[in-house]
Amino acid sequence: MGFDQYHEPPEELSAETRTFARMCASLTEEAEAIGWYEQRLAIEPDAEARAIMSDAQGEEFKHFAMDLEFLLRRTPRWRQICAGVLFKDGDIVEHGEVAEAASEDGGSDGDSTGAADGSLGIGSLKGEER
Ligand SMILES: [Fe+2]
Repeated sequence: MGFDQYHEPPEELSAETRTFARMCASLTEEAEAIGWYEQRLAIEPDAEARAIMSDAQGEEFKHFAMDLEFLLRRTPRWRQICAGVLFKDGDIVEHGEVAEAASEDGGSDGDSTGAADGSLGIGSLKGEER
């Protein structure tokens, strides 16, 4: 049994932090599996095999989503930033920068599409080096 998900001595970590680390490792594994199925599907010529692989990849999408939701429920800032980035049209990087800045400002509306002052917060990012 591997303990690679820990970067600090596990005995010094709380049970909550160990669970969080396990779920982060699980999220990574689900993403890897999604990528592996994508590669297999790209080259598999047999339609029946492809159907099974596609079904299996769907399972991995579900697993990834459940892991992510678990982690976001336990990590308000991460959730806030995701709320500002996910399922939105437009510039992904811009949404990310705005959401991150809003989270640093202690934004609390759970949807970091806007800055604390109600603006989009874009102006505050112009000229900033990160
Ligand atoms: Fe899975």
